[in-house]
Amino acid sequence: MAFDFKGRTALVTGAASGIGRAVALRLAAGGANIVASDLSEDGANRLVEQIASDGGKAVAAVGDVTDPRQVETAVALAVSEFGGLHLALNNAGIGGPQGDVADIDIDGYRKLMAVNLDSVFFGLKYEIPPMLEAGGGAIVNMSSVLGLVGSPMVLPYAAAKHGVTGMTKAAALGYAARGIRINSVHPGYIETPLLRELPAEAYNALGALHPMGRLGTAEEVAEVVTFLLSDTAGFVTGAQYVVDGGYTAQ
Ligand code: NAI
Repeated sequence: MAFDFKGRTALVTGAASGIGRAVALRLAAGGANIVASDLSEDGANRLVEQIASDGGKAVAAVGDVTDPRQVETAVALAVSEFGGLHLALNNAGIGGPQGDVADIDIDGYRKLMAVNLDSVFFGLKYEIPPMLEAGGGAIVNMSSVLGLVGSPMVLPYAAAKHGVTGMTKAAALGYAARGIRINSVHPGYIETPLLRELPAEAYNALGALHPMGRLGTAEEVAEVVTFLLSDTAGFVTGAQYVVDGGYTAQ
């Protein structure tokens, strides 16, 4: 479904690939100006070119979301290039270490928490002030089904994504009366480059974990994210939206 984002500016982190890219393209198609934040300069530039060739407006903000100054810079770019910030998707993420809890590497754990959880706090911290200045806004934080239920071999990922769920509720309550809606989205396993980190055998088994018997697509997640960022979701805040083919209904 197409939503109207004319006159709005959106920051998308992890915009160069997968879900972030699908959301950025959809927001741009609805008329939003896009700040495409990613570690990958090539990927961010490719997205900006694609949006421009489709007739939209976008700038790349190359940076690492684990560095608060780089998140602050991406937000500042929205204001300097487009005059403000109204929408944000805090989405950059990695898969991180897997294995029995006793075997999880501590540096791997810390990196995962920095990329998948600290970055969401930095996003909220810097995105909210310009949204208040603009008279309101909407934010989606990318969690996971593993932000609602556990799984034995992915403690760091599940811990970070449960953290994102809690951060979303706390921030949503803090700003509910001040015009900023904040929600989390919880995809099941989605066909993106992130899953390519997995061994072939594990990857091939993922579809069957979902009652619908398949992986989801980035576009299916983008549909729900753009709904939550649109005015159509005007009374939705502090909510957890699953896009999981039935995974968490089991
Ligand atoms: P992806 O690997 O296709 O895209 C992630 C993007 O984030 C990449 O462009 C990457 O360069 C960027 N990124 C990674 N670390 C970064 C950093 N430190 N600073 C800035 N950018 C960084 O992955 P995908 O699947 O699109 O994932 C997006 C989000 O969705 C992640 O938060 C992930 O945990 C979440 N998710 C993905 C699922 C899946 O099965 N693919 C399922 C549930 C949630």
